[in-house]
Parts: sequence; structure tokens; C-alpha cells
Amino acid sequence: MDHVPVLADEALQWLDPQPDGVYVDATAGAGGHARRIAERLGPAGRLIAIDCDPAAIEMVRERLRGFGHVTVVQGNYGELPAHLDTLGIGNVDGVLIDAGISSVQLDAPERGFSFQAEGGLDMRMNPAEGLPANAFLAGSSDREIFAFLREYGDVRPARRLARAIGRAARAGELRTTTDLVRCVQDALGVHHRVPEEARTVFQAIRIAVNNEFAHLRGGVEQAIDRLRPGGRFVGIAFHSGEDRIIKDVLRRASRPGERRRPDGRVIERTPPRVRLLTRKPVHAGPDEVARNPRAQSACLRAAERLGAEEE
Ligand SMILES: C[S@@+](CC[C@H](N)C(=O)[O-])C[C@H]1O[C@@H](n2cnc3c(N)ncnc32)[C@H](O)[C@@H]1O
Repeated sequence: MDHVPVLADEALQWLDPQPDGVYVDATAGAGGHARRIAERLGPAGRLIAIDCDPAAIEMVRERLRGFGHVTVVQGNYGELPAHLDTLGIGNVDGVLIDAGISSVQLDAPERGFSFQAEGGLDMRMNPAEGLPANAFLAGSSDREIFAFLREYGDVRPARRLARAIGRAARAGELRTTTDLVRCVQDALGVHHRVPEEARTVFQAIRIAVNNEFAHLRGGVEQAIDRLRPGGRFVGIAFHSGEDRIIKDVLRRASRPGERRRPDGRVIERTPPRVRLLTRKPVHAGPDEVARNPRAQSACLRAAERLGAEEE
């Protein structure tokens, strides 16, 4: 299935790519947003398209074939400075993070992301890194599982589900997505349908397996650090947990800060680093939601890096 980029017009409007600018699409996915950015660039412009998923990288290369000014990098955007340093790039004019999972990943049953299709319980965005979900769960305590079910999926009843999932994982009973769905059904005593909790359990485990929130927080912070004055950051989130992180990092960067000594005395006051361009999150309009239901939950925030004299 072809991935349809979400909030693409709005992302382009806020990123505002200039023909000779340097841009980073930190979550290139199937290359939808990346292509739209690449089309705006002239010969002196440059796009760095990053994704941690090797399958996504193949797709981006294909979709951006023929654009000479695009560099495709397989890597984690949580290591953005290292990727830019390797390419000899200093500060950039814009960074886009379209967080989370792509519909291409969700629609590949063998990746194990979907509770609606049978596949091995893997869920790694980069299959060469970390543990597949079943091994990750088998190595986690019930308390750890409880904590991420609550934090990453707002799952309830988290304690009961954590106990059931932990026990099944350690017994080697969670080989497939169907096993996990059945475990959720048994724990809730719901057998005639797949309960809504299955969706939030899958979301929470996926976020934990890929350590997504830590990378997102670090990625937004690093993106701000590597923007030139006037450079733009655009973030797209698909649920409240992701949006909270983007909002929090941008809000903090938009306020004056302080550096304190261990005894609490302020050593230095630091000026705001960004100006918020969107006070409220931007949502997809009804036409886009009708065309692409996935857009329903998306929300976008944008900020502009301040220059030294404005800081
Ligand atoms: C919502 S999709 C992006 C879709 C893309 N904007 C498009 O138009 O096709 C998110 C992508 O980000 C990637 N991703 C998630 N976390 C990442 C991370 N920490 N570093 C790099 N890529 C990441 C996923 O592999 C996925 O392909």
C-alpha cells in the first residue's frame, strides 16, 4: 500500500522550504513528506532523509530516485547531531519529525505491529537493534510492564493486564500477535470481540520496545539545537503522549531558562531559543480525514529558531 503523508500541506506551509536551504526529514518513512520537500529545492538546496527502518529506507530511495540533492541515511533521529556531523553539515534550515509508526509498517503483518493481523511478535522499527517484543516482555518485570502500559498507552486495567502479559511472556506463550490479543482477551474475560484495550496494549508495547519517547524528546531538543536562526521545526504526533513531548520541549525552549548551581543559586539566565509558530495544535481538515482516516488523530506543532540578537 502507498503511504499517504499526513498533514502534508500544513507541514510544508510551516516548514516553508527555501530553494537553497538545507532540510532534514527525520522520519522519512515512505518518502511522502520528503518528496514534497525535495520538489521545492533548487540545485543548491539539500534534503537529508533519515529513517531507522531499513525497509523504509528502500522505499525512500525508490521514491526520491532522480532527486540529486537528497541524501538518505539509515539511523535514529535521536542521534541527529552525529548524522549531520558525519555528512559535514552544520546547522540546518528546517527539521520535520512525523513521529511514530507508518501505515506501511502497520500493514506488514510479519513486523508484528498490528493487533488486526497475525505475525511474529517483533515490533522493532529497526530489526537489527534491541529485542523483539516477545523477548523484551519476557525480560521485563510485571511492574515495568505496568508502568509502560499506563504511561505509553493509558491502558486500564493496567495491573491486571501487566500480570497476564508478563506471565505469558515468561512462559514463552507470546510468539505471535494473535497470542497477545488472546492474552488481553483472557485477562479481560472478553472473547466474542477484540477489545479496544488490545489497540492501546500494542501501542504501549511498541513504544517501549523502540524506546520511542526518549528518542522523540532527544530528537526535538537536538533539532532545535541544530537550527539556524530563522530555521523551522515541525513536529507531527499521532497520540497525546507524543504530542505532550513535542509541546513540552517546544514550550520550554520558547521561555527564558536558568542554569543553577547545586545549591540552587542561579548562575546564568538563558534566552528563549524558539518562537512558537502554532499556539494550538493544527489538525487535519474534514476533507483530508475523509480521504485518509489515519489523519484524524494527527496534530502538528511548529516553531522557529530565534537569532542571537532576538534571544
Ligand atoms: C509516521 S511515519 C513517517 C511517514 C513519512 N513522513 C512519509 O511521508 O512517508 C514514521 C517513520 O519514522 C520512523 N521512525 C520512528 N522513530 C524513529 C527514530 N527514532 N529514528 C528514525 N526514524 C524513526 C519509522 O520507522 C517510520 O518510518
